[in-house]
Amino acid sequence: MIVFHNGALDEFPLLHDTDGNVLNASDGGIISVDGWYHWYGLALRPLPFGKNGSGGQVSDTGVVMYRSRDLSTWEYEGVILRAGSSNDTFLRPPLRFERPKLLFNKMTGRYVLWCHFVKSPGDHGFTDGAAEALSASCDRVNGNYRVERIFRPIDRNGYVRDCTLFENSDDAAYFIYDRHVSEAFNSVLKPFERCLHIVRLTDDYLDETSSYARIDACDAREAPCMFKREGKYYLITSGLTGWEYNEALYYMSDSPLNGWKRMGNPCVGEGCKTTFNSQPTQVVSIKRRLYLLSERHNTRNFVECSHILLPLEFDADGRITIQYKENVII
Ligand code: GAL
Repeated sequence: MIVFHNGALDEFPLLHDTDGNVLNASDGGIISVDGWYHWYGLALRPLPFGKNGSGGQVSDTGVVMYRSRDLSTWEYEGVILRAGSSNDTFLRPPLRFERPKLLFNKMTGRYVLWCHFVKSPGDHGFTDGAAEALSASCDRVNGNYRVERIFRPIDRNGYVRDCTLFENSDDAAYFIYDRHVSEAFNSVLKPFERCLHIVRLTDDYLDETSSYARIDACDAREAPCMFKREGKYYLITSGLTGWEYNEALYYMSDSPLNGWKRMGNPCVGEGCKTTFNSQPTQVVSIKRRLYLLSERHNTRNFVECSHILLPLEFDADGRITIQYKENVII
């Protein structure tokens, strides 16, 4: 039996690795391989919140990984996607490899990582290179990932914001992202537009194909978490309030590329208007049950962000309910 401790709604219960350091893996996820849970995310730096990305919400290190057999003892495995040196044109730290997600590609036998790449100095600027998708790959889950592409899917006009990956049961994979078309690019159409888009990936999962859709129902949403259950596709999302918590909203569809419907807030009970003081990170399958992994951003010290893990309950029509529990028994 595993007990995952979420703590009270206003707590930041920290996990530590076997060296005694805080598990510092922001906005990533958990991937299971050969009986190990590997938890990965962006290692944030220990500085207080500052202006222009100069604070602790950026990384000098990159994406790191920890492993565990029981979700409570975590061993540090090292950096899997490294920020470059200070004279590296593209990967110069401080940067953000935001919301990294991993998949295994059965055809190539390689692990694939995608994230939202926020170039040095780690702000969310509108300059070229500052709001891109990044794909990387490695022959081992915990090895040193090689950067494959840094680009904007669909076209250059859509800045990449929050993102995730989804692998379908037919082995097709998708990159889902908050596509931000700014006033400068879109003055003829709408003054400003943010909408989740879903892009089918090539068979090796390293690049985009020309097959994509604008998910019309998901206007101005971020922190997407996509999964499939009993033939239905789901997206759990947050609103756009930066590090401030807000109400989650989920969507359902019969197909990844069309027919998405707004379903409402899946959270119920105390704390449901603020996603229990957290922002969704990933829906993880553990021992054949689905859980929402959601991050408590600690803007006083980003190294001490913590995560909550809550089971998803489904009714006969597939509607989701999420209730807060201080301790979750897995
Ligand atoms: C959040 C978003 C994070 C990060 C942050 C910066 O809303 O989900 O990924 O971009 O804003 O303000």
